[in-house]
Amino acid sequence: MKEINVGIVGYGVVGNGVAKILEEKNELLAKKAGIRINLKKVFTRNWNKKFPYPLSEEKKAFSLDELLHDRNLHIIVELTGGIDFPYDLMLKSIKNGKHIVTANKALLAEKGKDLFLQAEEKGIRIGFEAAVAGGIPIIRSLREGLIANKIQKIYGILNGTTNYILTKMFKEGRDFVSVLKEAQDLGYAEADPTLDINGTDAAHKITILASLSYGGFIDFLGVYIEGIENINSLDIDLGRELGYTLKLLAIAKLHNGEVEVRVHPTFLPSEHPLSKVDGVYNAVMVEGDSVGETMFYGKGAGSLPTASAVVSDIVDIGKSIALGVGREIEVTSMNWEHRDLSLTKTSDFYTRYYLRFTVPDITGILAKVSTVFAKYNISIAAVIQKEKVISFAGETKEKVVPLVILTHTASENNIQKAIKEIENQKITVEKTVLIRVEDEEK
Ligand code: HSE
Repeated sequence: MKEINVGIVGYGVVGNGVAKILEEKNELLAKKAGIRINLKKVFTRNWNKKFPYPLSEEKKAFSLDELLHDRNLHIIVELTGGIDFPYDLMLKSIKNGKHIVTANKALLAEKGKDLFLQAEEKGIRIGFEAAVAGGIPIIRSLREGLIANKIQKIYGILNGTTNYILTKMFKEGRDFVSVLKEAQDLGYAEADPTLDINGTDAAHKITILASLSYGGFIDFLGVYIEGIENINSLDIDLGRELGYTLKLLAIAKLHNGEVEVRVHPTFLPSEHPLSKVDGVYNAVMVEGDSVGETMFYGKGAGSLPTASAVVSDIVDIGKSIALGVGREIEVTSMNWEHRDLSLTKTSDFYTRYYLRFTVPDITGILAKVSTVFAKYNISIAAVIQKEKVISFAGETKEKVVPLVILTHTASENNIQKAIKEIENQKITVEKTVLIRVEDEEK
């Protein structure tokens, strides 16, 4: 049986999970894959700690060179996090002829083009199943199971931390700050959850999915990103009244030959399958022209779910090494159109909108708002005005109330112009809340 030797760099939560699976399931993997995977060496900066899966002494490496210069090592598994160190490590791995498996979405989304092109030139494969949605095999599904499809749209919940927070806000009526603190206390949110909360983590993941789906590289700086840090429970309640559930959605779709990639809080119809995805779970929906709609659901983080994806890449690359085929084909899979993809500008987005204006409860306000909407060709689908007083405004201390308008599909450009005009006319007393709505017109 062909033997494949693997080294791991970074022995944190995921690294421990990978070592555990490779050692404890060694026989099972050999039976299923027809190759023997040997965990040969692991490098981490500090071995003087307690690890959930303690390694035998002979597998501990004390310098990266022990892996990079080992002629018998086939695959380096990069599990370090950050960007600069793993980028450098991957370049060295490519130079030294080692195939790479990584879970690093930030690195691939921001510097993937450079890495993939260099790897391709050297015939090196980069496996990245674990970089998107942890244990859900979405990368392999796009590359293999759904290969017969033109992908029309791929979208989903790609961040567990924010989904946990929004689920709690929706179900328990709590505010953002208290739920975030609870998530941190329970270990669901990182000590520094900035990249989760502000949408960057989900944006890294959808950038990778969009690249794979549409076959080219995406300039991450052009991706539209909005997080959940300013979400107010009042909007979650008002959205629910309109039949919607709020999720942080990552969306990629083709639009006039360009790829539209965006991450933002989104109202989804409460009966939509993604509205039912609660807590730390992730889910991805893929619409293909042959298959129709498909949905993938599972754990997007955690030691063993992520390790499950890492090991699938190790086995996949190991098999092609053993067979000596497929490498040339596989390395181009991220860039099968051999081009950079053009991104849709934010002003060209076309969707439905939930707008909450904060207005004095006096005669003629609704008429003024709807006049501006008509000017910008925005059609109103529903209106809610509450008697709930938020504050009092002006010398006469008029009651201030929320006025919610749900639109039919409109252009972002027109929506932004309308909001600006309404605010300039001083019809509103606070900044307007805008939440995009993914809902087919009935
Ligand atoms: N921090 C991420 C999440 C998991 O909350 O989903 C790793 O990508």
